Amino acid sequence: MSEMATRYETVMARKGEIMKRALGMDYAQFERSPIAFDYEGMMGAHGYSLEQIRGIQRAAGVGGTPLLELRNITDLVRSYAEPGYGARIFVKDEAANMAGSFKDRRASMSIHVAAEKGFAGVIAATSGNYGAAVASQAARAGLACIICQETFDSRHVGQPEIVEKSRLCEAVGAEVVQMTVGPELFFHMLELLEATGYLSASLYSPFGVSGIESLGAELAEEMIALTGAPPTHVVCTHAGGGNTTGTARGLKRVGARTEIVSASVDLSGLHMASDTDFNRKSFTTGHTGFGVPFATWPDRADVPRNAARSLRYMDRYLTVTQGEVFYVTEALAKLEGLERGPSGNTAMAAAMSLARELPRDATVVVQETEYTGAGKHHWSQLAFARAQGVEVRAGDPADNVPGKVIVIPERPEQIHAQEADLGKMHRSYVRNALKHAGEGYRPTPEDLVFMAEDTNTTPATIEEIAAGLRAG
Ligand SMILES: Cc1ncc(COP(=O)(O)O)c(C=O)c1O
Repeated sequence: MSEMATRYETVMARKGEIMKRALGMDYAQFERSPIAFDYEGMMGAHGYSLEQIRGIQRAAGVGGTPLLELRNITDLVRSYAEPGYGARIFVKDEAANMAGSFKDRRASMSIHVAAEKGFAGVIAATSGNYGAAVASQAARAGLACIICQETFDSRHVGQPEIVEKSRLCEAVGAEVVQMTVGPELFFHMLELLEATGYLSASLYSPFGVSGIESLGAELAEEMIALTGAPPTHVVCTHAGGGNTTGTARGLKRVGARTEIVSASVDLSGLHMASDTDFNRKSFTTGHTGFGVPFATWPDRADVPRNAARSLRYMDRYLTVTQGEVFYVTEALAKLEGLERGPSGNTAMAAAMSLARELPRDATVVVQETEYTGAGKHHWSQLAFARAQGVEVRAGDPADNVPGKVIVIPERPEQIHAQEADLGKMHRSYVRNALKHAGEGYRPTPEDLVFMAEDTNTTPATIEEIAAGLRAG
């Protein structure tokens, strides 16, 4: 124990220097104050234009995925929507990427940068699709790859989806370091970064998040070709916020004025760092346990400044239940012939709810699917949930209780996404920004402008929120 504490302390004391070398860029140049930094300067520092990013990705076998119109799902929604309502629903089939998700877009850029800067390998801390994507891209580029995962609870019971991901990473030649839930993930990653000299291929780097811009641009161009206009709405599954950020930036780059809707599975009440809650959720990403904390404080990430800043871009944030996503997963398979994984289907469930309230000439794009299989599959997740003591039954999804009861809807019209309060999230963001700036720090006019940009509000709104917080 004491030996562990010493190792931990000595490595953590060198955190700053280890990270500075491992990140491949110096974040300090963008800092403006304890609150503000030059976001666009940071995003542009890699120097790749959108066209160059698309070229890098084409060469890496990434992107160019099919955009499909879901006519049967649209007809289903119209069958119970009010007359004149029921938007057309489309999906970008990102499962067609090599490692099975849009994460290949992020990973292709991380690997390109690693190779260009002369790193011999990469390390990423991720239990999800990003690990498989980095491992797959590293294999193609001939780079070494280590993936650090939180896989087990303290009983050593692994989340089936994460166990399945370990297998995938190892299949393409990566080394996987599996851990139990807890703070040791970052410590072990630091040790490995120091020992190997590899690049820290963070999910939240500017080049990784810029890699998702191609997805927004592609889907806008494809919708213009198909319908004559960019989509009126795009729904993005939200965890760390890179998916929303990159897609929205890509849409903006090609001039699309699309409403950006983020979507997460509601896991309120479950704690992500909790050993006992770890295996009581059937979703390992795309849920509010990541979505809300990352949206309201992006810089909790493994980089000094997170490139994924979703409050800048989201117009709405919808939540759906686990049972609704499982139901929609079956509907998509049975009605459209697309058996896909839970993450994209989170946005799909929100899109079905959204399409019902929009007029028929509106167009809703679900901007990704992910592959499914083995532990990720919904039947496997439901069997696992039952084995952990979670009740699974049919009924009204409003009766869902995260970690206790999964209610599968009986009819599609029971799918009803809940609207998150963006005003509350803005308040939470400002509270976090002030807290991290330090006791007694008074935000400058430049800080107010920065926080307004970071939340897509106005300096006056930020001032009002800050005054409210001071008043308690
Ligand atoms: C398939 C899939 N969709 C969506 C997300 C959410 O993306 P982000 O964390 O960038 O919000 C993830 C992240 O784990 C994912 O793997």
